[in-house]
Amino acid sequence: MARILITSALPYINGIKHLGNLVGSQLPADLFARFMRARGHEVMFLCATDEHGTPAELAAAKAQMPVAAYCAEMHEVQAELARGFRLSFDHFGRSSSPENHKLTQHLAGRLKAAGLISEVSEKQVYSNADGRFLPDRYIEGTCPNCGYERARGDQCENCTKQLDPTDLINPRSAISGSTDLEVRETKHLFLRQKAMRDQLRAWIKSKTDWPVLTTSIALKWLDDGDGLQDRGITRDLDWGVAVRDGENDWPGMEGKVFYVWFDAPIEYISATAEWAHKNGLGDAAWERWWRDDKGANDVRYVEFMGKDNVPFHTLSFPATLMGANFDGAEPWKLVDYIKSFNYLNYDGGQFSTSQGRGVFMDQALSILPADYWRWWLLSHAPESSDSEFTWENFQASVNKDLADVLGNLVSRVTKFCRSKFGEVVPEGGALGPREETLVADLTAKLRNYESLMESMEVRKSAAELRAIWVLGNEYLQEAAPWSTFKTDAAAAAAQVRLALNLIRLYAVVSQPFIPDAAQAMMAAMGSDDWSWPEDVQAALTLLPAGHAFATPEVLFAKITDEQREDWQTRFAGVRT
Ligand code: 2FM
Ligand code: ZN
Repeated sequence: MARILITSALPYINGIKHLGNLVGSQLPADLFARFMRARGHEVMFLCATDEHGTPAELAAAKAQMPVAAYCAEMHEVQAELARGFRLSFDHFGRSSSPENHKLTQHLAGRLKAAGLISEVSEKQVYSNADGRFLPDRYIEGTCPNCGYERARGDQCENCTKQLDPTDLINPRSAISGSTDLEVRETKHLFLRQKAMRDQLRAWIKSKTDWPVLTTSIALKWLDDGDGLQDRGITRDLDWGVAVRDGENDWPGMEGKVFYVWFDAPIEYISATAEWAHKNGLGDAAWERWWRDDKGANDVRYVEFMGKDNVPFHTLSFPATLMGANFDGAEPWKLVDYIKSFNYLNYDGGQFSTSQGRGVFMDQALSILPADYWRWWLLSHAPESSDSEFTWENFQASVNKDLADVLGNLVSRVTKFCRSKFGEVVPEGGALGPREETLVADLTAKLRNYESLMESMEVRKSAAELRAIWVLGNEYLQEAAPWSTFKTDAAAAAAQVRLALNLIRLYAVVSQPFIPDAAQAMMAAMGSDDWSWPEDVQAALTLLPAGHAFATPEVLFAKITDEQREDWQTRFAGVRT
């Protein structure tokens, strides 16, 4: 039994996530966590809401709520949707937790002690009307290059020219529209990443098994142009983790908070502490996952994320943890494997939160159960390239894979058995060469499925699972117990007994993809034996003759053309 630590990138607190967000981290992470648990490993699977930063503050202001109350409410909304999608987190935390405040301040103090923090004075725009410093992208004005009137302080989206806020003509606050702006001097902390470049490069180069997508992004940021830059890790905001040196004040940093991207990945660790405290456990319970000197050296740590998150997870976060261990006293666990994803597009364009384009998690669950979405999203995960959601494709996959292949097998077997032998596993004669072939084929495909799942090949795993379902259908088609029954009832009974056992086996191996249907199949087979089919032959004799089962309701309803057209129209526009 191994110990596996799994984290999914943390969803931002401001707003409900769309299906593109879901398939880029949380859902594949859940697939892996479920599979690893099913194989008997000890798993710690974490996620949390990413609650700090200007977007959270602005979303709260828009909702006319205090930011703390807004985050608390949105956390519950996201937690409920996660449950709806059956995301099996051991803990779904909050980056605003006391645990994360404490650990973020502690690690910052360690970096300071390591000499890895520098203090830099900067000039920044202050809005008197808003009573705050404005981040570059919250200053708007006319582009000096093309005359576009809504250019942002960091870039003109019309002519793409990179700008400084002071370049803008007639600058104003994007928050209030006020033009009462002034430039003020302010001091910030920088993480001296440049000083850690060689250490980071050696570490990335040692990860020879990482996917190309991950490594190429990491090396690009490490070596391109000027290479890795020192990075500002503080902001002039109210909402966030106060800048402190461990438990002490940080002179000159009063009223400032850490940058959201500094404290967010630290929440992976803090979420584990939240989990421990929630369960009445002491610090040793979470430290054994995160500290090599406290038992974490045999832990395998895997992170899931979209490709835009890779630089932070291959450079900044490791720099924080490596830097904090400058004297060897705090060996924090570094990631062993990063599984990153491309983007999922929506019907000829992009999913977009700001534009409300696509299908959002709450909308998805309001029209169909989680398994339908889980199956489509995972079997079309944007791994080697971007992929696209279309309603036609969604309808076709659900109807073929789930309804025709899996659902149909379950329904045919149970209904036939009920009509000829009653709702108990029948007594039957011996099995023949056809069954031996089935066992051999299933074994081969199952071993392949296991190795694909272990290496997180999401699409290929889905294809192999589907092939495993197809084998059952083909067997049933060839054995045709309904014909056999006419001449040899005992032989038909043996075939049906095998097929009922196959349904239980399918529940076990399909559970990581479609947990609700798997539960329904297992319950219908009157069993609670989720043991993994290491030995297929043995697994197919588990339910004995005389064992009662139930004929389930339709496992997967087909999506009709009318439904598809209705949804297509309903979700074509913009969410308001
Ligand atoms: O890109 C995002 O959605 C970020 N909220 C991801 C944060 S991941 C981690 F570092 F916290
Ligand atoms: Zn311009």
